[in-house]
Amino acid sequence: MNSHLDKASPRGVAVWRWLLLAPLAVFVIYVALRGISESYDNDGFPEALAVKLELLPIIFPVHMITGGLALLLVPLVIYLRRTRWHPLLGRIAAIDILIAGITAIPVAVVMPVTKLSAAGFVAQGIAWIVLLAFGIWNIRRRRIAAHRACMLMLAAVTSGALFFRLYLGLWKVFGISRHFETFYALDAWIAWGLPLLGTAIWLRLQAPRHRSA
Ligand code: HEM
Repeated sequence: MNSHLDKASPRGVAVWRWLLLAPLAVFVIYVALRGISESYDNDGFPEALAVKLELLPIIFPVHMITGGLALLLVPLVIYLRRTRWHPLLGRIAAIDILIAGITAIPVAVVMPVTKLSAAGFVAQGIAWIVLLAFGIWNIRRRRIAAHRACMLMLAAVTSGALFFRLYLGLWKVFGISRHFETFYALDAWIAWGLPLLGTAIWLRLQAPRHRSA
């Protein structure tokens, strides 16, 4: 017996896909533009971030601008795979991620909310740069599957910037202010750790199918 989905037209599937992706795209663009604008419009920063800005008046804004751009560039470069734009935009994204990742490290260690949260951000920055380096190394050797895997894991680490703010927003609505520091440290690890783990498991499950194809 044919199910409802079997009969779905390609156009219907495309419409559903865009209906699901559009709110996500709006959220990504919102966080990215907000990040970029906070590099100059940061009067409302909480004390913990205002101190960092005072101590790192160039590095922190550079991180916000390049971090915001990375959020826009990473999905765009993946979307434009197999087009002539992919290598050009990919190179621009790589330089941007390198700057955003390197600047994240002093931002993380200067006057951190907790040592554990600083360690989470440093680990995220290092994971970002290492995956970028492996991704480039693999494509230079024409290992396309390995390049794809590295870049999808890099995208997962990038999504940590979204999940971090999402969990922070949920915490502000539902959380107990007493345990804020514990929550913040946990957020700095799970925001990127869980998407990375999920993507790595998904890639591993996909691997036998790719090999037999
Ligand atoms: C993926 C690697 C990233 C790391 C390791 C990282 C690290 C950090 C750290 C440590 C802070 C200061 C928060 C604190 O110490 O409590 C920060 C703040 C900030 N980052 Fe990143 N970041 C990354 C990616 C991004 C991305 C993709 C964006 C794009 C929006 C971004 C935009 C910002 C902004 C706007 C702030 C200022 C405060 C805020 O709005 O939360 N970062 N980042």
